[in-house]
Amino acid sequence: MKIGIVGLGYVGLPLAVEFAQAGHDVVGVDTSQGRIAAVERGDSFIEDVPDERLQSVSDRLRASTHYDHLRDADAVIIAVPTPLTENREPDLGPLVAAGTSLAGVVGKGQLVVLESTTYPGTTREHLVPLLEESGLAAGRDFNVAYSPERVDPGRTDHTLRTTPKVMGGLTQACLERAVELYSEVCDEIIQVSTPEAAELSKLLENVFRSVNIALVNELAILCDRMGIDVWEVVDAAATKPYGFMRFDPGPGMGGHCLPVDPFYLAWKAREFDMPTHFVELAGEVNQKMPYFCVDRITRALNEHAKPVRGSKVAILGVSYKPGVGDLRESPALKIIKLLSRSGANIAYHDPHVPDLSEHNLTSEPLDSVLDGADVAAIVTAHPDLDLERVVREAPLVVDFRGVTRGIEAPNLVRL
Ligand SMILES: NC(=O)c1ccc[n+]([C@@H]2O[C@H](COP(=O)([O-])OP(=O)(O)OC[C@H]3O[C@@H](n4cnc5c(N)ncnc54)[C@H](O)[C@@H]3O)[C@@H](O)[C@H]2O)c1
Repeated sequence: MKIGIVGLGYVGLPLAVEFAQAGHDVVGVDTSQGRIAAVERGDSFIEDVPDERLQSVSDRLRASTHYDHLRDADAVIIAVPTPLTENREPDLGPLVAAGTSLAGVVGKGQLVVLESTTYPGTTREHLVPLLEESGLAAGRDFNVAYSPERVDPGRTDHTLRTTPKVMGGLTQACLERAVELYSEVCDEIIQVSTPEAAELSKLLENVFRSVNIALVNELAILCDRMGIDVWEVVDAAATKPYGFMRFDPGPGMGGHCLPVDPFYLAWKAREFDMPTHFVELAGEVNQKMPYFCVDRITRALNEHAKPVRGSKVAILGVSYKPGVGDLRESPALKIIKLLSRSGANIAYHDPHVPDLSEHNLTSEPLDSVLDGADVAAIVTAHPDLDLERVVREAPLVVDFRGVTRGIEAPNLVRL
């Protein structure tokens, strides 16, 4: 098959490589010249795709900014961003742009699959009308399906191939085409009756995580007031062999999905006179966490008779989760902004993030970031962080990830 992938990011690039490895000709289309050039050079910008893997499929994977190359593709998969506007409403701009460009090249017999996370109805109400501008009819002249992506950057125990893939087609024939396509790279396909059911299933997964993270985060704030160790509480509850699923508190939610996707559902629900309380409340609690972290750092400094203004705060880990360099919606950015506003001198250490240009900061080695620091805050604990050394060398350590459990020291404070 010849397969087109629109949007070569965290979702699109691994998918492109997987299809190429399965022996198909793949054309990736992206609006970013830089990304296209990098793919053509065999230079990966996604941590889950090592350069060698990208280079191993160089004879079957082409990349371009031109949609024309998709004209004779058997199938086209769309994986463009679905962000929020400044007012936290769905921004379908990239999806509309991709659909409009695709309308110019979509052909009879083609299959178009949307993978971007979005609210129920997007495929049918937005993408299909755009594609039908071509003069062809969806479900008759070409096929359309929706299949949400479940990739979790940095995860190695579950892969694209071993993670079941949910799929809904505009018609039964659309679904069958999509199942046939994805069977090339996925072991198990879960068929649902409509694109809407598939769209909503993805949002349920993300809302579920967001709500449960908010629950333990709120509990962490309560534990702080009550003088109870929240980690001990979570560890104890997690010993129940049924009816409990562990979620850990932390400095707030990051990444492209959890802080964004639930609001797609909340927005759509309003059309049905339905406020989604759980979604909104979870968002509210999770958004509060960076403020709570700044308050916790401030109190810890105060206990050492130091003000925030003029203190050197060493932030350890700024990406949104361990082992990756993804900064999107990272709570560390908010914490840095709030502390800077209060007059703190910020330095940071993150081997995955060489610089934070918006804050005019570059990552420092651990010894230099700890040198002269008044407090070190563990915001994201990358696997190779030398915790013993941090606790030994910093006069004060605030751990927002619970990774120092097992270390007892008078200069150590945990969430
Ligand atoms: N990152 C994740 O872990 C993850 C997981 C599951 C689902 N998703 C969803 O998948 C979708 C894509 O996310 P991502 O993380 O891969 O985003 P990304 O920003 O990493 O990649 C998207 C790519 O699309 C390109 N693009 C934007 N507009 C375009 C257009 N009109 N035509 C062609 N290319 C265009 C961008 O240049 C970028 O390279 C989103 O809806 C996201 O919610 C992401």
